[in-house]
Amino acid sequence: VKPLKVGIAGLGTVGAGVVKLLDANADLIARRAGRPIVVSAVSARDRRRERGVDLGRFAWVDDATQLATRDDVDVVVELVGGADGPALTLARGSLLAHKPFVTANKAMLAHHGLLLAELAEAAQVPLKFEAAVAGGIPVIKGLREGAAANELSRVTGILNGTCNYILTRMEKEGLEFGDVLADAQRLGYAEADPSFDIDGIDAAHKLSILASLAFGTRPDFPAVEVQGIRDIRLADIRQAAALGFKIRLTGLAEVLGDSLVQRVHPTLVPVGHLLAAVEGPLNAVMAEGNFVGRLFFSGRGAGEGPTASAVVADLIDIARGENGPAFAMPAMALAGLKAAGPMAR
Ligand code: HSE
Repeated sequence: VKPLKVGIAGLGTVGAGVVKLLDANADLIARRAGRPIVVSAVSARDRRRERGVDLGRFAWVDDATQLATRDDVDVVVELVGGADGPALTLARGSLLAHKPFVTANKAMLAHHGLLLAELAEAAQVPLKFEAAVAGGIPVIKGLREGAAANELSRVTGILNGTCNYILTRMEKEGLEFGDVLADAQRLGYAEADPSFDIDGIDAAHKLSILASLAFGTRPDFPAVEVQGIRDIRLADIRQAAALGFKIRLTGLAEVLGDSLVQRVHPTLVPVGHLLAAVEGPLNAVMAEGNFVGRLFFSGRGAGEGPTASAVVADLIDIARGENGPAFAMPAMALAGLKAAGPMAR
């Protein structure tokens, strides 16, 4: 049986996690995928950094964009990050070279998702991004496949593990915002630039991807109205608690009339609500389908193991030969609704 040969660009928290997971569960993954999935080539900024994995067995590629055209790479995994730059060059190069492409890069998808979906469909290869939204929770598969038969009216959730970790530690331990951010960074939850987390930008990237899957719009990050948690103080959390609420950073995408509303902001959630029970680096997504009813997904939204789990799930799909439109409907159909966000006014 021919193994699926993987080229990985980016060996930070998630990249190292993917190598560890493919090693640890190799036999199980080969059985489920119908063939072995092996890393053949890797690329990262610093070759010598200690990552807790043996990289000597893989070809080292100095320029990540070269992974797109190497004969020993069947599928490219992009874990570099950034909406543009090398990540986008690698994505375009891989798809133009007819190589399946797996990414955790929500920023790139939120800005260029339609372009990449068009390239993938023209090349008839999969573009997969389970790890881009809500870490280990299979919410992309849930909406793209599980709920595919439904008209969806509303998607909401907690989409940033760093913010949820910070808010719940403030709430439980009486700490101020600044006391907790460094821990979220140390634990590998935060983005390279943590302002993306605390200013709500990361959650907005993810919301625009979910909205695209749910409502057939193209991902449109500039249309999302965003407010983060930078200004939340312990006093706000205490006042909310006194009134019977918790504060969570939530995202909401909803069709109102002929417009799509996309918003990310701190929200007062009643103590008994499902979203109030989402704590630490957990994420949650709720969706309403006209036949399935309410769906609620939750699990770890950030960190090495959960995010690697989502990347490898996509590799298993590819090894099985699964394909189909990246955003649940063909790119040419993603004409979409009029977004009601700030750029649309
Ligand atoms: N920085 C992100 C978060 C990582 O905290 O949710 C997962 O996308």
